[in-house]
Amino acid sequence: MCGIVGYIGQQDAYPIVIKGLKRLEYRGYDSAGVAINSGNNVNVYKRKGKVSDLEQFTLNKDISGCIGMGHTRWATHGIPNDVNAHPHISMNGKFVIIHNGIIENYAYLKKKMIARHYEFKSETDTEVLANLIEYIYMFGNVSAEVAVRLALTKVIGAYGLVVMCIDEPDKLIAARNSSPLVIGLGQKEYFIASDATPFVEYTDQVVYLDNQNVAIISRDGIQIKTIKNDIVNPDIKKIDIDINEIEKGGFNDYMLKEIYEQPKSITDTMRGRVFQNDNYISLGGLLDVMPRLMNARRVIIVGCGTSWHAGLVGEYLFEEYARVPVEVEYASEFRYRNPIINSEDVVIAISQSGETADTLAAIQLAKKCGACVIGICNVVGSTLSRETDAGVYTHAGPEIGVASTKAFTTQVTVLAMMALMIGKNKFNIKQEQYHELLSELISIPTKIEHTLQSASKIEEVARLYKDSSNFLYLGRGCYYPVALEGALKLKEISYIHAEGYPAAEMKHGPIALIDDKMPVVVIATKDKGYEKIVNNIQEVKARKGIVIAVVSEGDQTIASMADHVLEVPVFNTAIGAILTIIPLQLLSYYIAIFRGCNVDQPRNLAKSVTVE
Ligand code: G6P
Repeated sequence: MCGIVGYIGQQDAYPIVIKGLKRLEYRGYDSAGVAINSGNNVNVYKRKGKVSDLEQFTLNKDISGCIGMGHTRWATHGIPNDVNAHPHISMNGKFVIIHNGIIENYAYLKKKMIARHYEFKSETDTEVLANLIEYIYMFGNVSAEVAVRLALTKVIGAYGLVVMCIDEPDKLIAARNSSPLVIGLGQKEYFIASDATPFVEYTDQVVYLDNQNVAIISRDGIQIKTIKNDIVNPDIKKIDIDINEIEKGGFNDYMLKEIYEQPKSITDTMRGRVFQNDNYISLGGLLDVMPRLMNARRVIIVGCGTSWHAGLVGEYLFEEYARVPVEVEYASEFRYRNPIINSEDVVIAISQSGETADTLAAIQLAKKCGACVIGICNVVGSTLSRETDAGVYTHAGPEIGVASTKAFTTQVTVLAMMALMIGKNKFNIKQEQYHELLSELISIPTKIEHTLQSASKIEEVARLYKDSSNFLYLGRGCYYPVALEGALKLKEISYIHAEGYPAAEMKHGPIALIDDKMPVVVIATKDKGYEKIVNNIQEVKARKGIVIAVVSEGDQTIASMADHVLEVPVFNTAIGAILTIIPLQLLSYYIAIFRGCNVDQPRNLAKSVTVE
C-alpha cells in the first residue's frame, strides 16, 4: 500500500517520478504528491486523486530539478484529501518526507511533540515522524542521517520512507521496516521505489533494503546502515523485468490483458518443471526441503484474498494426490491465534506480491515454531521470497490490475505441480494416472485459450445482469473456492454484493434470498458432484432464480434448465478446476465495464497490502 519513488542523478527528476508513480498506482490512488529539489528550493505539490490529477495541478509550476521523490497514497490515518497527501513537511520546514506503512505509536509520539509546541496540519502518522526527525535534528544538533536513525529507534510500526533535508540538499535518505523499498543503481544516478517497475528501463542492478536499514544516497554513491549505525554491505542483485510486461499492450485495461495472458503465464509457470515424456515434475526451489515436505505431518497453507482462495483449491489437490492433511488459514487470523505448529509441519505461504503484511507475519510465527516454510510468490526478490526456507515462483509476469487473475491461476498451477510431485514420490499415484494428470496439466493453457474465445457470449450475459444488486456463486468440492473467487472478483471491481457458497449449503440460508431478480452462478462441470449440483440448479429454478451455469462443453442437461450456460472444455481431473474461473473473471470484468467502473483501480482497494 502506498507507492514510493525517489530519484537522484543528472536527469530531470519530475518525469521519472511521475512515470514511476503511475506504475505504482496499483498500491493506492487516494492522492499523489511530489517533492522536487530545484537547486534553490524544494517544491512540494500534492493533490487528492490520481497521479493524472497531480500532473494537471503541476502544469505551469516549477518542476525543475534532478533530485525528487513522489508518493501515491492508500489512506490509513486521515481521509484522502490534499492536506493528508504526501509529501509532508516538518513544522519548521527542514524535512520533507514520504512514507508507506503505519507508525503504530504515533498518538503517543504526537502527544509528546505537541508538548514540545509542535503544531500539525494533517491527521497523518507521517507528519508526526517528520516533526520527530526535525526535533531531533534541531535540538540534538546532529546531521540529517543521524536524526532519521535516532527518530526511527523511537518508532513502533512499519515504514518504507524517503526523506529530504533542506540543509543537506544533495542527498536522499531512505529507510525500511516491513514496507518494501528497492534501490536501483545507475551511472551516477540512483532510484528508490516500492518495487523495481518504476526504473526498469534505466537499470537492472538493485539492492533490496532490509528491515531497520537506512540508505544514504547521493549522486556519488550509497551507504547503507542499520538504524543503530552498523554498516551494511549492499547485496547487489540483477533483476529481469521486460518493459513490455508492464505496459497495456493494446488492451484497454491491465485486468483484461492479464486475463488474456493466462495461457502464457501458466505455460511459463510450468516451463522447465513439467516433463510429460519422462513422466515427472521437478521444482528446483524445493529440492532443499524435499525430505521435510515428503515427511510433513500436516500442511498449513496461509494467504489473503485471492491467494487464500488458491490455497483452498490447493487443499483439494494436496488431499487428493499428496494424501497429506491440509489446513488453509487466513494469514491475518492465523498470526493472532495461538496455533499449534511444530517442526513436522510445513507451512506454505501464498502471495502474489510477496509483501502482504499479514502473510509475512504468519511466516515469522511459523518459523518461530520450527515449521518448514515454503513460499509461492510472483514477485522475484520480494520479502516473502527472501524470508522463506524454500519456494516456487509463479512466473506469471507483473500483475498490475488490482483484481488478481493470472496470479490465481498460476498459484493453483504451482499447487497442482507440488501435489502431483509429492503424490508420485509417495507412490499414491499410479504411473498411468500420473501420465494422464500431466497431460491434463499441460493442456490447460490451450483449454484456457479456447475458453477465452467465448468472451463475447459472456459479455452478452454480463450486459443482462449489470444492474443486479446481488449475486450468489455456488460450487462443490474444489469448485467452492472457485465460487468464492468468482464472487470476490465481482465485488472488487463492480461493487455488486456477491457471496460464494458451497452449493449444498445453499439450503441452510442463502436459498431464502433467491427470487426472480437473483442471478445465481453455478459451477457445474461434469465431475464427481455433477448429479448433486444439477439438483441444486433445480432448487434455484424452483424458486425462480436466474441460473448462469459454468458447464462442460456440450452439456445439454444443464443447458435445458439454466438461463445461460458458459462452456469450458471437457476435463477429467481436479486439475481442470483452474479452467472454471476464466468465465467468471470475464463475467465480472464485463459487468464492471458496463457499470462504468475503473476495473484496474477499484475504489478503496490496493494491490499490495503492506499494513495489517
Ligand atoms: C489485496 C489484493 C488482492 C490480493 C490480496 C493478497 O487484497 O487486492 O487481489 O489477493 O491483497 O495479496 P498477495 O499479494 O499477498 O497475494
